[in-house]
Amino acid sequence: MSEKKILVTGANGQLGSEIRRLETNFPEYKFLFTDYEELSIIDEEAVEKFFEENRPDYCINCAAYTAVDKAEEKSEQDLVEKLNADAVGYLAKQCSKYHTKFLHISTDYVFDGSSSTPYTEADIPNPVSFYGATKLKGEELALQNTDAIIIRTAWVYSSSGKNFVKTMMRLMQEKTEINVVNDQYGTPTYAADLAAVLLQIIKCGKWQSGIYHYSNDGITTWYQFAMAIKSIKEYSCAVNPIPTASFPTPAKRPAYSVLNKSKIKEAYHIQPPHWRDSLVECLKILV
Ligand SMILES: NC(=O)c1ccc[n+]([C@@H]2O[C@H](COP(=O)([O-])OP(=O)(O)OC[C@H]3O[C@@H](n4cnc5c(N)ncnc54)[C@H](OP(=O)(O)O)[C@@H]3O)[C@@H](O)[C@H]2O)c1
Repeated sequence: MSEKKILVTGANGQLGSEIRRLETNFPEYKFLFTDYEELSIIDEEAVEKFFEENRPDYCINCAAYTAVDKAEEKSEQDLVEKLNADAVGYLAKQCSKYHTKFLHISTDYVFDGSSSTPYTEADIPNPVSFYGATKLKGEELALQNTDAIIIRTAWVYSSSGKNFVKTMMRLMQEKTEINVVNDQYGTPTYAADLAAVLLQIIKCGKWQSGIYHYSNDGITTWYQFAMAIKSIKEYSCAVNPIPTASFPTPAKRPAYSVLNKSKIKEAYHIQPPHWRDSLVECLKILV
């Protein structure tokens, strides 16, 4: 039997890069890593052609417009909508046509943050940012492929790309004092952990379509997350907790976006590492 093919879109991003790192652990699969230069997913004809020529068995869509604040700019919004919504529909359509199993990634920002208990997959989304709204549309389009699996994740960081951990490391080395928001609650996700989960879902052979939540375990705030980075790296920079009201950003963020992960834990026997343990792992790479 020939090896199964896994198409990874947006493969140069944080999550895609972590899947790439795991490639050698999964020699039974042929990985087709693409970013916009090889396959721009907003180009519907290119997507059709790619599927016709390559017929992947699985498609993991890691491509997205993830600059949440920039996504609020009117001049960007056509692109944000195309990439986070329309293009997901293009992929879902081709996945249906070629019986490709579709794994799509979404976000905690589909919720408005008014809850005070972890969000389940049954909770009603109500995005408060343009990014969140387009990601929600993307979910709806992904589900046109009735066999799709959507993983909503949150606060993603890794040793590559732009993310909170790298920004904090830079600021704490450059400055003597910084302010970090302490009234937004959520859970960080180390992209390496999520990448392993995605490949575990594929490898286990049990495909149960639908929406799942995945992040690391535990609950924190951006301030506490920053304090953990400071403590692990032994920086001397002072870190002050501030309210969101003192740090206005173009995009509104949910005040509470902790995800309940019971469904994925039970369906796929996954035990996410605690966010602090994963942070330690990532910081071993980020010197
Ligand atoms: N980052 C987070 O905190 C976070 C939180 C929750 C959910 N998520 C979701 O998790 C998934 C992975 O996020 P991530 O942090 O790995 O994102 P990322 O680092 O921004 O990676 C996205 C990748 O997609 C590429 N891309 C842009 N336009 C494309 C196109 N037309 N065709 C193909 N690829 C294109 C990007 O290239 P360029 O960089 O050159 O544009 C980038 O390499 C996304 O669905 C995101 O919405 C992320």
